[in-house]
Amino acid sequence: MLRHLGFDSRQIRVAPADPATDRLPVEGLRALMDADLRDGYIPFCLVANAGTTNTGAMDPLPEIAALCKERGAWLHVDGAYGALAVMCDEGRAALRGMELADSITMDPHKWLFQPYASSCLLVRDPKTLASAFRIAADYLQDAEGDWNLWDYGPELTRPFRALKVWLSLEIFGAAAFREAIAHGFELARRTEAKVARMAGWRVVTPARMGIVTFRHEPAGAATTAALDEHNTTIAAECLWRGFAFPATTRVRGQLALRMCTINPRRTEADIAATVRHLGQLASEILVGI
Ligand SMILES: Cc1ncc(COP(=O)(O)O)c(C=O)c1O
Repeated sequence: MLRHLGFDSRQIRVAPADPATDRLPVEGLRALMDADLRDGYIPFCLVANAGTTNTGAMDPLPEIAALCKERGAWLHVDGAYGALAVMCDEGRAALRGMELADSITMDPHKWLFQPYASSCLLVRDPKTLASAFRIAADYLQDAEGDWNLWDYGPELTRPFRALKVWLSLEIFGAAAFREAIAHGFELARRTEAKVARMAGWRVVTPARMGIVTFRHEPAGAATTAALDEHNTTIAAECLWRGFAFPATTRVRGQLALRMCTINPRRTEADIAATVRHLGQLASEILVGI
């Protein structure tokens, strides 16, 4: 998005996460900001995560918000994946500090289970949006009212994307969504527990917000590259046999299987069967090697 806005790579810093927690370390961010200032760059905006797509890691938002306040920087929280988990108690506790952001993105097509696309941007001070996007075209003068949506974003003509979100909340009620989100969190914990009990498997990142990553590392296995390939084959085989689609990703340089338990229709039995199936595939593939 920063590139769309015209910033080039010299103006964008990708801050390294703490390898033990996958969270942005506040002191590291402070040091990066200091280094930029020394080099003549003014850090004006910091983007933190309310649940990363890869591992569900949540940045320490209260501390990051305090740093931004101290430095006069805009805090944007990327909550595309995680922010709406704030609806359930566990999510709210995990996302403490998100309310301090200047802006937050959130995708109802994730934890609110909506059809694509229904992304939202919340901004603390709507005047900021109006000052960026307001257009005063003569041909719009008859359509103008007190609240003109086209003043708050880049689109003039737009579809009614919010209708489906509003209808879902009206029909199912917020409680149903709270329960469904809590169910997704619980399924990830169950996945982690099942994987942890299987010999030869390692949980790479624990259950966080409905995401858990793991990999098969049988005793005596060769190199990291061979294990990467072995795990890629397990995922591909699982998909080709039509059983489940375990995504693969890379965590700290290693290939891992990634389970995202966000679908509210999935049950603990589905999870148990999938993990069992992965275990069987792993043994079969090892025999074939
Ligand atoms: C953390 C995070 N940020 C940004 C995005 C991009 O959002 P979208 O796909 O709605 O453009 C995603 C997922 O797609 C995400 O999980």
